[in-house]
Amino acid sequence: MNKILIASNNTHKINEIRSVLKDITGIQLYSLNDFGITTEVIENGTTLEENAFKKAKEIYDILNIPSLSDDTGLFVDELEGAPGVYSARYAGEHVSYEDNCNKLLSELKNVPENKKTASFRSVICYYKDPGEFRFFKGLCKGRIISKPRGHNGFGYDPVFIPEGMSKTFAELTDEAKNSISHRAIALKEFRKFSDSYF
Ligand code: IMP
Repeated sequence: MNKILIASNNTHKINEIRSVLKDITGIQLYSLNDFGITTEVIENGTTLEENAFKKAKEIYDILNIPSLSDDTGLFVDELEGAPGVYSARYAGEHVSYEDNCNKLLSELKNVPENKKTASFRSVICYYKDPGEFRFFKGLCKGRIISKPRGHNGFGYDPVFIPEGMSKTFAELTDEAKNSISHRAIALKEFRKFSDSYF
């Protein structure tokens, strides 16, 4: 069985990754917790790819186990793509998800509803070893609403409605979010690759 270490401390992300990959064959998924690792990788890249690569490589370097990382951002069209790569610290360092959502809502308060289009983008990096790493991408289009709704999920989920739906990500069940999300799309690409690789 091939071991893969999920290079994240974010339990929401870990659960989503485990759920989308739950019946994958030939792979046993581990989290940092399983090895007592609490390392926080500094995400100072300027692209999702750079950050995803950095997370997977730094975690690989600790145990020499192939790693799978995710870097995600919310790109709002009227804000020229902000918060984008800087989504985690949009309202400042060490802020809450709520602080980030509030800052986003305040930046968009004068924007008409039909112009508040946005997309979540995820980049997954599978880092097998220094000679082999691959990226998988996922995108989910939608729009930002003016007041948070729902309590599931994390991050900007309460203010984002995926295209063609009327509920925010935070109002959807985990299963429903995981069937359409940016992260799930990228992970499905990884699955396709892994089916013929492992
Ligand atoms: P990260 O750098 O990939 O950990 O993600 C940056 C930030 O984007 C997180 O702190 C969250 O606020 C937000 N984020 C990432 N993934 C999601 C998601 O699936 N839904 C909502 N927000 C997310």
